[in-house]
Amino acid sequence: MLAVIEQVTQVERDWREAPLKSLIERLVRDHRSWRAKDFPLIEHLFDRIEDTAGSMQTSGLLSLRRAFYRLRAEMEGHMSREEHVLFPAIVDAESHAITGSAGPRPGFGSMQNPITMMEDDHDHEDRFLTVMRDAAHGYQLPEGADENLRTLFEALQALEAAMHAHTRIESSILFARALQLSGKKSGS
Ligand SMILES: [Fe+2]
Ligand SMILES: [Fe+2]
Repeated sequence: MLAVIEQVTQVERDWREAPLKSLIERLVRDHRSWRAKDFPLIEHLFDRIEDTAGSMQTSGLLSLRRAFYRLRAEMEGHMSREEHVLFPAIVDAESHAITGSAGPRPGFGSMQNPITMMEDDHDHEDRFLTVMRDAAHGYQLPEGADENLRTLFEALQALEAAMHAHTRIESSILFARALQLSGKKSGS
């Protein structure tokens, strides 16, 4: 956890001044990697464990798998809302701030509105991650756990850490800077 915090702090330093457009490109790369790589890999690992069984109570594994599917469904909607609504609006606001021109007022009104929605999504995701961690007993491997379960727990913990880091970058850097930008615009 400490390594993740240090990593995020370094990222915060790196992105405090950089163009928001570049920060958004970096965040969208995370989204793509979860969709294309991590989610399918985790699903595959669940399938493999169910084939071999015996290393974790079936009921615990089922709850964990169900919570993962709920997280993935929530994430699919959330990433789509960020990529199609909020992120383009931030890129637009930044480019108008650079040129000093007044852009059209977005359909959602104030920038605070979609940001509040995204923060609510982040709270939901956090709850699903906690449900998963509880279902997996804190990712403590049971006695006699096989290699498949070990790999699954590693993948789930890596996903949890990556999502926390990603969300923190969005909230503390991207959303904060976007609100600053929109505040300046409405005050000018
Ligand atoms: Fe995101
Ligand atoms: Fe997000």
